Amino acid sequence: MLVTGGAGFIGSNFVHDTVRRFPDVAVTVLDALTYAGSRRNLDQVSDQVTFVHGDICDAALVDGLVRDTDVLVHFAAESHVDNSLNDPSPFIQTNIVGTFTLIEAVRRHDKRLHHISTDEVFGDLPLDSVEQFTEQTAYDPSSPYSASKASSDMLVRAWVRSYGVQATISNCANNYGPYQHVEKLIPRQITNVLLDDKPKLYGAGDNVREWTHVTDHNDAVHRIITAGQIGETYLIGSGDERSNRQIIEQLLTLMDQEPTAYDHVPDRPGHDLRYSNNTTKLRTDLGWQPTYDFAAGLAATITWYRENPTWWKPAKSQTEARYKLLGR
Ligand code: NAD
Ligand code: DAU
Repeated sequence: MLVTGGAGFIGSNFVHDTVRRFPDVAVTVLDALTYAGSRRNLDQVSDQVTFVHGDICDAALVDGLVRDTDVLVHFAAESHVDNSLNDPSPFIQTNIVGTFTLIEAVRRHDKRLHHISTDEVFGDLPLDSVEQFTEQTAYDPSSPYSASKASSDMLVRAWVRSYGVQATISNCANNYGPYQHVEKLIPRQITNVLLDDKPKLYGAGDNVREWTHVTDHNDAVHRIITAGQIGETYLIGSGDERSNRQIIEQLLTLMDQEPTAYDHVPDRPGHDLRYSNNTTKLRTDLGWQPTYDFAAGLAATITWYRENPTWWKPAKSQTEARYKLLGR
């Protein structure tokens, strides 16, 4: 199995789970080690994994690695919306050109591909509604990040139809758990509190996200790889919807702070209102269901950041300096 982006948040958790659950699978990770990736994320499995430091846009490197694999699981991406608003160009390169480079190699060598994507490709839903995204929802991305991910999904779909490439796609909701970069909502606020700073809430904080533990996401990915139908798309999400304000208040309470002890900062431009995935297909066809209770998962995540300051501290000041420039 070749795992792109296996040194990032979801990819490294996927590699850990794969090595534990499927010890006979030989795993190779291809990762460019951008600011978001770290070899330390794979320390616990370094003996069981082959690590290749390289770029998914490097066609010669990718060709050799894909030739020698059975299954490619493609996590590598520029993943942060705020960064994409600040400078879209690496998003176009990695998310679009990188995916193109991979699917061309997959086509040449006739290999199985699972492409990891996001619910953000569908745009957003009204705040006060029970509407959900389904696998049939039309794409309507809002940010440079989601537009680049939508483009990558479209490429994969076209390669399936035109070239018969053996690929599946999954679009997951927001993830949380260990090894998530401190730029993202939950780790940013946990580490702020640990440093005696306050959580930062964008705008009024009414925007709603559907929070899925990274282990539940990766269990769905394993099910799709082993039993998913070629050419199909699967939505993944826990059903656990919360506003950003609720998340910050819950997190503060779990960390023994006043629930109102946060700062309001200017809103994200084009800020998507609400995401919600209908996961009937994944549950019915592949028997998936989430196993994490959100409050327990959040408490365990807080404990992980509390116990691993040497993991997150090196990235923290640079990340906050970037936010300061953005006024957030
Ligand atoms: P991340 O930013 O934590 O990790 C991305 C990884 O990709 C890093 O290790 C980075 O070094 C690597 N990478 C970046 N550019 C590369 C390149 N050109 N060549 C090789 N490696 C490169 O991201 P994440 O949050 O783990 O997201 C992983 C995937 O899941 C992405 O495709 C993202 O769109 C998708 N996704 C994320 C979430 C979420 O909540 N984080 C939800 C749904 C889908
Ligand atoms: O929905 C899936 C997507 O979830 C993934 O495709 C992306 O890769 C991932 O980054 C995530 O995108 P979001 O933009 O939803 O995640 P983020 O953690 O950046 O922000 C979550 C919400 O919290 C969003 O509404 C913005 C808000 N926010 C974020 C930060 C960093 C704040 O209010 N304060 C903050 O400090």
